[in-house]
Amino acid sequence: MGDNLRWFLKLFRPYKGLLLFAFLGAVLEGVAYSGLSFVLKNLIDRVLVDKNLSLLWVSVGLLLTFGVLKQFGFLLSELLYRYAVSKIVARLRVRLYSKLTSIGLEEFQRYPQGEWLGRITNDLRSFKDYSEGFGIKVLREFFTALFLVGVLLYFDWQLFLAFALIVPFLGKAFEYFGSKRKKYSLLYQEVFADFINFVSNLLENFENVKFLNRPFLNRIARAKVVALFGAEFKQALYSAGYLSAVELLGYLFAAAVFLYGGYRVVEGELTAGTFISFIGTLFLLYNSLQALQRNALNYKALEPVITRIREVLEFIPPERGGDKPFRGLEEKITALNVVYPEEKPILRSVNFEIPKGAKVFVKGTSGGGKSTFLKVLSSLYLSYGGSLKYDKTELRDFLLTSFRRKVFYISQRSAIFNDTVRNNLLLAKPNATEGELRRALELAEASFVFDLPEGLDTKLGGGGVELSGGQRQRIALARLFLTRPEVAFLDEATSALDPETEGRVLKNILSHLRDKTLFFVSHRPQLAKHFDLLLEVESGEVTLKGAKENG
Ligand SMILES: Nc1ncnc2c1ncn2[C@@H]1O[C@H](COP(=O)(O)OP(=O)(O)OP(=O)(O)O)[C@@H](O)[C@H]1O
Ligand SMILES: [Mg+2]
Repeated sequence: MGDNLRWFLKLFRPYKGLLLFAFLGAVLEGVAYSGLSFVLKNLIDRVLVDKNLSLLWVSVGLLLTFGVLKQFGFLLSELLYRYAVSKIVARLRVRLYSKLTSIGLEEFQRYPQGEWLGRITNDLRSFKDYSEGFGIKVLREFFTALFLVGVLLYFDWQLFLAFALIVPFLGKAFEYFGSKRKKYSLLYQEVFADFINFVSNLLENFENVKFLNRPFLNRIARAKVVALFGAEFKQALYSAGYLSAVELLGYLFAAAVFLYGGYRVVEGELTAGTFISFIGTLFLLYNSLQALQRNALNYKALEPVITRIREVLEFIPPERGGDKPFRGLEEKITALNVVYPEEKPILRSVNFEIPKGAKVFVKGTSGGGKSTFLKVLSSLYLSYGGSLKYDKTELRDFLLTSFRRKVFYISQRSAIFNDTVRNNLLLAKPNATEGELRRALELAEASFVFDLPEGLDTKLGGGGVELSGGQRQRIALARLFLTRPEVAFLDEATSALDPETEGRVLKNILSHLRDKTLFFVSHRPQLAKHFDLLLEVESGEVTLKGAKENG
């Protein structure tokens, strides 16, 4: 059994009880379906040929009973199974989402964003669709086919063997079309991820696009859509091709059965009732064999989707630091020949000692490596070379949750989530009181939120209030005032503010972090005079100077 199939089945383990009933439903459907064939045979031989009216009533009664039972079995198995699949999808969604938040920045950046989006949206959608077309349906059709085979063997085993010669041909068709189906299902997921990536770029940059060349942009989009169409249509082509091949094979072998069976009826070896019921049942069997293969084919499409989901859940490693708790900076941060990344370094040989409590102004030309430097220093990029110590402990040996509880980082792009102002702030400190929130907003010069339509409960972002760049920054900064980190890293976190506001906020930051350590990246040299130290990051080289004499 394939590894993926085993994984798939394991997902159903919590629903064993439900699935048992679904299974019974499937068996019931199979039995009832074959019962219908029996009724048909007896209707012809005993009622029509022998002209027995009372048996007609019995036959009709049985027909209805079997019909109802079959439908009952179908509903039971289908509903219970779909319930289990929906539950599983919901659980996978939660697992994928929380896995995504657990991986490191470096691993995250290895894949384009659309890839991640595709995996937690479209892949799960496909997982649901293909799973519904697989699973219980296979069982149901399997039992139906099994019982129908039993009936056919009972009717006339020789006729059945003539038909059974079709099996190897069906096998070949399945193998060929199945592998194609798998290939294009995989391709489709990949192309889709690329397309989603492009769409999300469009959404992020909507206003810029208005001033860019739209036909050109549409041309790029069209090329991606064409690729998507190709992969989609190839899937349809091979499913339809498969169905036709199977159908044609069916007619071919049915013709052989007609010839052989008809001959034996003429010779008097076989009753007409048996022959007609045999043919009728054969069609039922063939239908269910086709359905069986279609479902198995769905598994071929499901497999690559499972692989992609498992890749995220199992093979992409979560971010891993060490096990040393961080109790706060006692003395100093020391960098010794720090290089990042080790191959084709952006930062080359960084060396410095920064004492606890220092306020460090970081400057340098655009693209020089300031943001990268802050990411290394703040534990976002752990695969640095050389040695980077907080007191006597190597940065990557810290228990990351412990380290990050006492350290704060604000990136160049302010992180605002589509939710209320309050929730956006509580993200930094879930148990903050109203007073603390108010105070933090005041210190961040973000009192404007109290004038928003619903104050702290105003929704931000898409569908809610659009903030200006500087307002977003001030909300992000309010988070800093909610926590009082041992070390703070601010990457151009005040760059969108006017100089007066920026000056007031900086004053608040410096007094909030009085005996704490601060790294402050900025392109405004006039701010340097408020700092103790100056770090210059220039084409990957980091130099430390006293700030006052360079200000
Ligand atoms: N994840 C990454 N993978 C590869 N290269 C990167 C990555 N992040 C940044 N770089 C490269 O590293 C260099 C430094 O980038 P960085 O963002 O650190 O510069 P910066 O000094 O912060 O610039 P700015 O002032 O414009 O913000 C750039 O050449 C950039 O292209
Ligand atoms: Mg930067």
